Amino acid sequence: MPLVNTKEMFAKAYNGGYAIGAFNVNNMEIVQGITEAAAELNAPLILQVSKGARAYANHTYLMKLVEAAIEETGLPICLHLDHGDTFELCKSCIDGGFTSVMIDASSKPFEENIALTRQVVEYAHDHGVVVEAELGTLAGIEDEVNVSAEESSYTRASDVQEFVERTNCDSLAIAIGTSHGAYKFKPGTKPQLRFDILEDVAGRLPGFPIVLHGSSSVPQEFVKEINENGGNMPGAIGVPEDQLRKAASMAVCKINIDSDLRLAMTATIRKYFNEHPADFDPRQYLKPARAAIKAMVMHKITDVLGCDGKA
Ligand code: G3H
Ligand code: 13P
Ligand code: ZN
Repeated sequence: MPLVNTKEMFAKAYNGGYAIGAFNVNNMEIVQGITEAAAELNAPLILQVSKGARAYANHTYLMKLVEAAIEETGLPICLHLDHGDTFELCKSCIDGGFTSVMIDASSKPFEENIALTRQVVEYAHDHGVVVEAELGTLAGIEDEVNVSAEESSYTRASDVQEFVERTNCDSLAIAIGTSHGAYKFKPGTKPQLRFDILEDVAGRLPGFPIVLHGSSSVPQEFVKEINENGGNMPGAIGVPEDQLRKAASMAVCKINIDSDLRLAMTATIRKYFNEHPADFDPRQYLKPARAAIKAMVMHKITDVLGCDGKA
């Protein structure tokens, strides 16, 4: 099976009341851990690459890794550009074989966001590629852009219909309280996503796929393990998984998870080195790290996204 775009995946997810996991990839072990989990559970999959990941690992290496994953698993896999910030970057990924791109012009004024998104959509659709756009801004860190909590703002539901009609985008990321990274909510506070906004948006865009970024749950056992093995992470709290499950049952068709994989990988490697201080064979510590990513993705697919068996 060749790489697929998200059209069919999202239509099935919307109607079936589940979401597809979009996991960030940066190297071979991450691709393997994620795709082994999806294969075992027969789950459709989105592998996404940020500008930083592409700069780190190189476009061709990432393409070949994902092609290898398809050959090994036979799964429907979409290769997606995460947080594209320019037309040129999106074009380069489209020309280079990606099947989906995000143009994130959410920090620009409404009219500029529309103009840039529209430009990307026109080029993408001419090449059979789908486009995710964003309205509203999330707090947190993505590549070089650091959005503070004060600057972040929820999506205005009254804007979404005009935005989608004028841009012709294929899916829309909205801001309902999630944020990027491991420090999403203050320790001691009760995280609560704005389901009223999600419902309002969904009501205005019947059948249209909604995307949630910043959806890691930051499992406390990994933060603890990192800190017990020489790390120094301050209090970190993520999005409660029951709220993500609820979002997946509504109009949300794509849920982005990166930080949880980073935590699983880092906690495992830190623990390994603490227990084996003399080891220096990368295979010895990358093997359990890959297994930890696989376990994390299996948990997300079955207990949060509900897309197991849907490939
Ligand atoms: O939303 C951002 C993703 O977690 C990717 O992060 O830009 O550090 O690769 P990155
Ligand atoms: P997390 O940092 O919550 O994993 O979010 C990842 C993301 O939104 C990638 O686009
Ligand atoms: Zn994101």
